[in-house]
Amino acid sequence: MRVIEVGEYGGPEVLVETDRPEPRPAAGTVRVRVAAATVNPVDVWAREGLVQALTPGLAPPFVLGWDFAGTVIEAAEGFAAGQRVLGLLPWFAVAARGIGTNAEVVAAAPGWLAPLPDGVPFADAAVLALNGPTAAQALALLPPLAGTTVLVTGASGGVGGFAVQLAAAAGADVLAVAAGADDEAYLAGLGAKQVLPRTAPAELAAAVRALRPEGVDAVVDAGLIGQLVLPAVRDGGAAVSASDGATPTAERGIKVATVHCEPDAPQLRRLADDLAAGRLVTRVAAVLPLADAAEAHRRTAAGGLRGKVVLAP
Ligand SMILES: NC(=O)c1ccc[n+]([C@@H]2O[C@H](COP(=O)([O-])OP(=O)(O)OC[C@H]3O[C@@H](n4cnc5c(N)ncnc54)[C@H](OP(=O)(O)O)[C@@H]3O)[C@@H](O)[C@H]2O)c1
Repeated sequence: MRVIEVGEYGGPEVLVETDRPEPRPAAGTVRVRVAAATVNPVDVWAREGLVQALTPGLAPPFVLGWDFAGTVIEAAEGFAAGQRVLGLLPWFAVAARGIGTNAEVVAAAPGWLAPLPDGVPFADAAVLALNGPTAAQALALLPPLAGTTVLVTGASGGVGGFAVQLAAAAGADVLAVAAGADDEAYLAGLGAKQVLPRTAPAELAAAVRALRPEGVDAVVDAGLIGQLVLPAVRDGGAAVSASDGATPTAERGIKVATVHCEPDAPQLRRLADDLAAGRLVTRVAAVLPLADAAEAHRRTAAGGLRGKVVLAP
């Protein structure tokens, strides 16, 4: 099967298309023919060699990719041949075994998978499969959301966009920080009560306090603002970061946490059903052939995307 390998750590040019043996049918796995896999910021960092501490035993060449959507190849573990699925592969834990979703076939544990309802494009499903659970698991680290005020940074992105939608659906008043002026209407459409234009990180807390002088109850920091986001939070509030490297030091009784997204099949199934029913929306910036992985990485690393770049093997 064709895969994209990181041949050595470096820029997008180190991504090479090559052949690897297809995983064989095996007990405890479901073979999925991949139709879509998203390029996420973590893939760019992994290619650059910045996540080695999180992936014991990993050394190039290896295959990137956390999320995927596609079709089950043969009946296994309760899944039917031909069934549409989406999945979240816990890449930090398994990459050293040679597994990643930038490949034509993935051997998935059943607990990584959920059925994909008809009508949902594979690309949309792939974008959901890592970013949706990350947002849901971040929000689960906060106190109950109903009636609270939640600030979401990086709201124009994958994780932030789902955090806005899920927090609003749970009854929170959401303040969303847009990445650009053209995102203000988009974020209001996702359920944000107020949309703040992008500021320098040092100016964010003042902009929030101008709207909510008492501070917000909680923040989901998907924009990795870090320590500078905490002054926006009221005393005794809560903060969850999308990255260990950007997790602030607690102050004023604020409860601080970091999300580490893990596969959760029932949760993924609920999110996929929400996507199918239109209760969640996602954005796809482009779908490129697997062979164009380097271009997908360039676009992702450059930022300013509206939606994700998806690879289609
Ligand atoms: N811990 C976990 O389990 C986990 C799982 C998934 C993702 N993550 C992390 O979560 C973070 C977000 O991921 P993602 O996939 O959502 O990334 P993304 O799609 O690139 O979204 C990030 C968004 O934040 C915007 N942004 C950056 N700085 C900002 C600022 N100062 N003000 C306003 N907006 C700002 C970006 O805009 P521009 O592109 O225009 O700069 C972009 O729209 C990443 O660090 C990712 O690695 C963590």
